[in-house]
Formats: sequence, C-alpha cells, structure tokens
Amino acid sequence: MNLEARHFPATRLRRNRRDDFSRRLVRETGLSANDLIYPVFVLPGEGEREAVESMPGIERLSIDLMVEHAREAWELGIPAVALFPVTPPEVKSEDAAEAWNPEGLAQRAVRALKSAVPELGVITDVALDPFTSHGQDGIIDESGYVLNDVTIEALVRQALSHAEAGADVVAPSDMMDGRIGAVRGALEDEGYVNTRILAYSAKYASSYYGPFRDAVGSAGNLGKGDKKTYQMDPGNIEEALQEVALDLSEGADMIMVKPGMPYLDVVHHVKREFQVPVFAYQVSGEYAMHMAAAENGWLDGDAVMMESLLAMRRAGANAILTYFALRAARLLARGSNE
Ligand code: PBG
Repeated sequence: MNLEARHFPATRLRRNRRDDFSRRLVRETGLSANDLIYPVFVLPGEGEREAVESMPGIERLSIDLMVEHAREAWELGIPAVALFPVTPPEVKSEDAAEAWNPEGLAQRAVRALKSAVPELGVITDVALDPFTSHGQDGIIDESGYVLNDVTIEALVRQALSHAEAGADVVAPSDMMDGRIGAVRGALEDEGYVNTRILAYSAKYASSYYGPFRDAVGSAGNLGKGDKKTYQMDPGNIEEALQEVALDLSEGADMIMVKPGMPYLDVVHHVKREFQVPVFAYQVSGEYAMHMAAAENGWLDGDAVMMESLLAMRRAGANAILTYFALRAARLLARGSNE
C-alpha cells in the first residue's frame, strides 16, 4: 500500500488527546493548592462577619473568625494568606497614621495568625488607601496630587510595623517610585533581613478593582477620584518591564502583576525577561464577573474558575492571589484535575 499517496496527517495531535491517561501525561502546566494565595478582609471586633455584596461568597471577618478560615486554607495546602484590613471611618485621616499603629487591625491580625497557625505565610498590604480619609494610596498635597517621597516615609513606617508584628512578606501595592529600595533598606537596618518583599511592580489603573474598594470601604472616600497618576496605563507593557527591573534592583523578592486575566501578556513577558518569581492577582472584578455569570447559569462556575487559574499558571505565574483560593483548593483536594 502506498501510504504516501493517502495524504494522511503523519502528525495527529489528537492521538495524545484521545484518552485521559495521555492527556494527563502530556499536560504542560498544572495547578495545585501550592500555587494559591488567599486574600482575607479583616474587620474589627469579635464574632463579626459581613457579606461583600459585589463579591458573592466572600465575607469580611473579625480576627477570630478570619483565623479559623485561614486555618482551613492551610489545611487544604494553601501556603499563604494576604491580609486586607477594613478600617473604621473614625480612624482614617489625612496622614494615614493608623497604618503604622502597632495595635492596628492588620498588625493584630498578623500576630493572631502567627500564633494560631505559625507556618502559614502571612502577606501584608503596604499602601495607605485603607487609612486615608480621601481613599488615595498616599499623602496628598492641596491639589490632591499624591506626593511620592512623603508617602514613602509613611510606607516605610507601615512596612516596619508589619514586620515587627511578624509578617513574613510585605507587599507594597502603592506604586510610588523608589519605595521598594526604601522599604528594603529599612528592613535590613532593623534586622528584618528575611522579611520578603512582594512588589506590586506592574499594577494598572484598572476598572476591575471596584468590588475590592467596596469591600474595604475606600470607594466612598475616593469618590470620583482615580489613581492614574501612580497606577499604570492599561496600554503599557514596556513600562511594566521597566518597573519590574527597578523593583528587582531595589531588592524585591517576588513580583506581582495586577490584574490577572486581562494582563496575561504582562505576566508572560515579565517571566520570560526576568526569570524570577512572578505572581498574578486575580482581582475582585475578575472574581465578580465569574460569579455573576455562574449565578446566572451562563457559565459553569467551577470549570471557569479552574480554567482561569490554570491560564495564569500557563502564562508564567508561579502563584495566584485569588478570592477563589479556598474554593479551588477544596476542589483540588477532591482530586479534580480540570
Ligand atoms: C490598593 C489596592 C487595590 C486592590 C488591593 N489593594 C486597588 C485599588 O484600590 O486601587 C485591589 C484588589 C482587587 O480588586 O481585588 N492598595
């Protein structure tokens, strides 16, 4: 028989797709609980829980309840949580001084977590927006412009107070120029040489943050204001690479790209160019979109959740900060490979 004449495709990529066993063997990227970071919203008080309306399934929790939640995350194999305090309006101010109060919500939450689940990694957010009366991430002048160098002094105080409380990773998400170097210098000077810095290097002025601002209560303070004078323009990627290069040279240990799914090209380029730990933040708006479609019966919630997380891994993310972390880890624990 003249095979040549039959014009069959010699390479049939469908062969490996034929059965589950070979699909599993040739899978290039995987997702495990090890790849997830669980963000938690922390309330003052005890026994307090409040639903976040624009994020179905997500609650703000007082420290006691949050710790139990974090324990579950740890038991499911999630390596770390990221803390976001919900600051009461009466402690917000122009200078954000509550941000470095040793008895502040974030600082107390860190201590509670480190004493209850010592091995669970605790990541704190270094930015002033939960603490400013105007909702911006920094200190502003009369015109409302966020002042870079003055803000850095406040961020250094905040980062040191987190390290002192026992935070394993401090994560500046403010986008001031030079803050990684300043925080690194201060940590070294104070003896916190092993406190890791997760730098939000490529953080875009995104419209996908809305539900988060509702959750932490900064939306009302920010009003019609935006963050375009410090967060990045969604059209830019060369600038993202420049930000990453600077943050690495200033002492960052890990890099964050934020948001996640609309910016997978950024994740990919950063990974390719620098070969350093890169994380992606699947932000509140991404979570809300998935949940809204699933609740309407328009998408299969579990399936798109897992696909979105796997896609971030494929793009180059080592880990993903996601509100789906607990749900995805529960599914993974049940042996789902999808
Ligand atoms: C600001 C901060 C933001 C988020 C976390 N910290 C963005 C912003 O308000 O500009 C958003 C996270 C999310 O949407 O899930 N320091």
